[in-house]
Amino acid sequence: MAKVKTTFFCQNCGTSFAKWQGQCTACKEWNTIAEEVIQKAEKVSWKVSETNSKRVSKSQKVKDISTTSEARLNTKNNELNRVLGGGIVPGSLTLLGGEPGIGKSTLMLQIALQLPYKTLYVSGEESAQQIKMRAERIHPDSENCYILTETKTQNIFSQIAELNPDILVIDSIQTLHTDYIESSPGSISQIRETTTELIKFAKETHTPVILIGHITKDGNIAGPKILEHMVDTVLQFEGDRNHVYRILRSQKNRFGSTNELGIYEMQGNGLREVSNPSEILISKNEEDLSGTAISATLEGMRPLMIEIQALVSTAVYGTPQRSATGYNAKRLNMLLAVLEKRAGFKLGAKDVFLNVTGGITVDDPAIDLAVIAAVLSSNIDISIDKSMCFAAEIGLAGEVRPVTRVDQRITEAEKLGFKSIVISKYCKIPKNNYQINIIKVAKVHDVVKHLFG
Ligand code: TYD
Ligand code: MG
Repeated sequence: MAKVKTTFFCQNCGTSFAKWQGQCTACKEWNTIAEEVIQKAEKVSWKVSETNSKRVSKSQKVKDISTTSEARLNTKNNELNRVLGGGIVPGSLTLLGGEPGIGKSTLMLQIALQLPYKTLYVSGEESAQQIKMRAERIHPDSENCYILTETKTQNIFSQIAELNPDILVIDSIQTLHTDYIESSPGSISQIRETTTELIKFAKETHTPVILIGHITKDGNIAGPKILEHMVDTVLQFEGDRNHVYRILRSQKNRFGSTNELGIYEMQGNGLREVSNPSEILISKNEEDLSGTAISATLEGMRPLMIEIQALVSTAVYGTPQRSATGYNAKRLNMLLAVLEKRAGFKLGAKDVFLNVTGGITVDDPAIDLAVIAAVLSSNIDISIDKSMCFAAEIGLAGEVRPVTRVDQRITEAEKLGFKSIVISKYCKIPKNNYQINIIKVAKVHDVVKHLFG
C-alpha cells in the first residue's frame, strides 16, 4: 500500500494548501478549508488500452482534420438541441447545473427515454424503483434506456464495458466516488478525480457524457469551479420552483453559442418544450387592468414578450416599500427617481411593487420603458392599451435610449398581433415595411404625454 498523502483544499474555490488555516487566501472565504486524503497509488481508472496510452499526438493541418466524427447526436428535444448548438457532440462532457428540485433529473431522464440511442442513466440519488415511477409519468415505453444505481466509478465503468452505451448520463457528479481516493463523495478531490475519469472515458470512446451537478445557494455549481473548466459545456437550468416555467441556459459551450436558451414548462408528465414563449407569458385578460405593460425583450437570441405588473399605492408606514420580483430592485429605484425628477411624478411617499410575470428574471435593459409605463399606469389608475408594447432603455437624464436588435423585437411584436410598439427615437430600423405602428419617443415626458395625454 502506497503512503497516504493528504492535502488541504478550499471547498469553495478548490485551492490547495499545505496546512489547515481559517481563511482561504485565494477566495477569502472563512472555514472552507478541509483536509482530504489523496492516495497517489498506482492509478487505473478508465482502462486505457496499451496502444492508446503510448500514442503520441501529431500536428496536422486544420483543413486535413476530418469533422465526420463530430457529427452531432440529435436529442429529439428541440430546445436542448438549440442550446447545445445543434445536438450533442460525441465525446463531449456536458454539465447540467441547477437548484435542487428544479427538474434536472426529470429533464435528463426525459431525454434519455426518448433518445434513439442506447443510453445509460446512472443515478446515485434515487433507487431504480423511484426512477421507474418517474419514467412512467414521462414516457413509459422506451427500448433504449438503461438504469444503473451506482456511485462507484469503477463499477460504473465495468457496466459500461458490458453494455456499451451510446450516451452516458450521471445523476449527479456529487454522489460519485472512486476507489483511488478516500475522501467522501462530493468533496473537491472526489469530484476532480471522478470527472477526470469520465473525461478520459468520453474522449477515448467518443461517448458523450452528461453530468448533473448541484448548485450552491449563491448559484455556483457546488464543489469547485474546476468542474466548469474541465467540461466542454455548462448548462444551467433555472426558474422559480413555484412557477411552471424553466429556462435552460448555456453558460459555456465549446461547440456553439452561449446566447441560446430553451424554455420548458413543468407539467404532470414531465417537461414540455415551449416553442412560442411569448404567447404564454402574456395574460389573456379581456378586461383592461391598470398597472400592466408589455415589454419586447430578448433573452439570449430569442425575442420574448413579457408582461410587467406594477402596483403603486400610498405607503401605510413611514418608509415606503419598494419591491421587485424578476427585476433588479436597484434599477427600479433608479427609474422611480428618474420619474420623480424628470417627469414630475411624486412617488416618494408611495409603495411600489413590481412583478415580472411567469417567474422569469429579466436582465435586458429594454424592459425599462415597460416598467415605467406600468408604474405610471398603476399610479394614475389608467390602463394601457393592450395592443401596445415597449422596448427601450431609460437613462438617468430621462432620455429614452435605443436597444440592440430592435428589428427582431418589432418583428416579434408584429407576429403576435400587437398594433403599436414604443421605441427610442434614436433607434435605427434597417427596413420599414412593418404593419405595426412604430411610436418613437425621445424622453420619458413624451411617453407620459403619449400614453395618458
Ligand atoms: P427533479 O427532476 O427531481 O429535480 P432535480 O433533479 O433538479 O432536483 O424534479 C423535481 C420536481 O419536478 C418535483 O417537485 C416534482 C416535479 N415534477 C413534475 O411536476 N412533473 C413530472 O412529471 C415530474 C417527473 C416531476
Ligand atoms: Mg435530481
